[in-house]
Amino acid sequence: MELAGKRIVLGVTGGIAAYKAAELVRLLVKAGATVQVAMTEAATRFVTPVTFQALSGKPVFSDQWDPRVANNMAHIDLSRQADVLLIAPASADFLAKLANGLADDLLTTMVLARDCPLLVAPAMNRQMWDNPATRRNIAALREDGVFIVGPASGDQACGETGPGRMLEAEEVLAELIAHFQPKLLAGKRVLLTAGPTFEAIDPVRGITNLSTGKMGYAISRAACEAGAQVTLISGPVCLPCPAGVTRIAVTSALQMHEAVFRHVAENDVFVAVAAVADYRPAGFVEQKIKKGQRSSPPTIELVENPDILAEVAALPVPPLCVGFAAESENLAEYAESKRRSKKVPLVVGNLIQDGFGGEENTLILFDDDGQHPLAPAPKLQLARQLVARIAVLLGKR
Ligand code: C5P
Repeated sequence: MELAGKRIVLGVTGGIAAYKAAELVRLLVKAGATVQVAMTEAATRFVTPVTFQALSGKPVFSDQWDPRVANNMAHIDLSRQADVLLIAPASADFLAKLANGLADDLLTTMVLARDCPLLVAPAMNRQMWDNPATRRNIAALREDGVFIVGPASGDQACGETGPGRMLEAEEVLAELIAHFQPKLLAGKRVLLTAGPTFEAIDPVRGITNLSTGKMGYAISRAACEAGAQVTLISGPVCLPCPAGVTRIAVTSALQMHEAVFRHVAENDVFVAVAAVADYRPAGFVEQKIKKGQRSSPPTIELVENPDILAEVAALPVPPLCVGFAAESENLAEYAESKRRSKKVPLVVGNLIQDGFGGEENTLILFDDDGQHPLAPAPKLQLARQLVARIAVLLGKR
């Protein structure tokens, strides 16, 4: 229930993406928010107010002169009830009105009268989005402190392809949740490694570790939500890059090592989440190794990979380093010894009990103040708690 207790006024303007707003209301309610929908007259031509009423459990407002509001000030009442005002979809016309401070219907009047943050999710044809007038309006709105979420690029309802389509409902929800997170890492830069590495033996085979990358990606997202500038150096995984995070894709431990040292100097925090292969084959066999062409099975000579975390922690002026210790037994003992041997101020320990790749985890944080157990929770929730601890340690430096 990431939005429990939050009051959201969702403004829907006239565009085909209004259908996505219906799904958005469902997700917002599921996340614990109270949602009041207000629509422009044009929006009601795409999706009826009945749909939004059914999904939000509240009658929809679309008329400035709505007789249900005794004082006839729906625009004031609605905006005063909100923690955030979200306009999704926001049409080109609506954005132009906002940028110029027009107030000729319920929604525009409400925006002008608000005393809470405003998020808008633009939705329009790619030419309209690229039009200099729209660009000017978006720049003006940013200048006014309006948060612009999206748009995405892709297939459009008009049959064209390009930037301008509204983010998917899940993406708008993620932006909204991010908006409500405390900005504990504002102005900080965070570098992370995540996922496994893959050490090639021949063109089709290699050595790797089990790692989905989910924890590392969750921490990247949490750090980004907390206001940090985040660079994620990722081994091969099947996960989308969190919005706002810069991802650098690598395959092997040596590539990960090179990418980390290319970026580490400009970062305040380094979080090594990757399951880096400890060894790699001494040589790469150019052609696929064939079975049956030799009298005995082939042997693979291994050489040790650099320990990226230990090397970063040993820099003359290291960033705040955070390491992971995934152990099958003796967690506290191994995590503390890793903390000492790698000279890392914070080690995140987890017991590998139920295998890898789940959505939840149980962690214990080990630092100079002792042990901080985190109750079993979804990885993103744990990531937010870890980010909070990182902010505390940064404050002590
Ligand atoms: O020594 P061990 O592999 O158990 O340490 C785990 C921690 O060290 C993790 O934070 C992992 O990302 C990091 N590590 C690394 N480079 C390696 C091996 C581990 O950065 N070659």
